[in-house]
Amino acid sequence: MTRDRPEFDPRCLLRLEGVGKTFQMGEVSVEALRDVTLDVYQGEMLVMVGPSGSGKTTILNILGGLDTATAGRVWFRNREMTTFTSTELTRYRRDTVGFVFQFYNLVSNLTARENVLVATEISRDPMDVEEVLELVDWLRLSGKLTVLSALHDLTAAAQFAHRLLLMDRGRIVAAGPPIEVLTEDNIRRHFGANVEVWQSPAGPVVVPRRQVSTSPAH
Ligand SMILES: Nc1ncnc2c1ncn2[C@@H]1O[C@H](COP(=O)(O)OP(=O)(O)OP(=O)(O)O)[C@@H](O)[C@H]1O
Ligand SMILES: [Mg+2]
Repeated sequence: MTRDRPEFDPRCLLRLEGVGKTFQMGEVSVEALRDVTLDVYQGEMLVMVGPSGSGKTTILNILGGLDTATAGRVWFRNREMTTFTSTELTRYRRDTVGFVFQFYNLVSNLTARENVLVATEISRDPMDVEEVLELVDWLRLSGKLTVLSALHDLTAAAQFAHRLLLMDRGRIVAAGPPIEVLTEDNIRRHFGANVEVWQSPAGPVVVPRRQVSTSPAH
């Protein structure tokens, strides 16, 4: 069955529509994502920030074809990903998506072509700012790459993101340019942190005084 997407915008690479993800562990269920709607556009650098356990990795895994949503719909261009055959899914994982994990130097092995999505992921420790910026510079060379990244380091996020998603408890609670998302109110409310102001190239942004502690859910 092919379910093509109505009113498809060709600049839109990926779309989550009312996506939920519940992990069932015996009798216990964990709701990792709740009603997440998100468009990812070609060529953008999109960074997810949020406290540990807020759902960042879960989104990357679903968009990367490594896991499936338990509610809602997921689109890659004009195709619904649940309609991919296993061959198509394998090809999508192999040729379209590149994953970069902090502890594996996979950058040189990426099968990066035009229009690919590169998901960068952090786990136990925040990525070093310089490492992140180096990676982004490398990715920029290929022009049309879309970068979707999960970070705890808000300073680095503010430095290279076109758009930030602030996640908390499985929801997107704010989205937009870093300068709009990293407000004192947002940081205090979602990270419970003392804040300081950092001068980003785009203007002042607010970051936690100590970077967010990362007790990993990985
Ligand atoms: N395989 C799994 N089985 C059960 N629960 C899971 C699983 N993966 C994630 N979770 C739960 O889903 C929620 C979201 O986890 P996720 O790993 O997406 O968070 P995160 O934002 O990436 O956190 P971190 O910043 O620590 O990497 C957490 O409550 C986590 O415990
Ligand atoms: Mg994670």
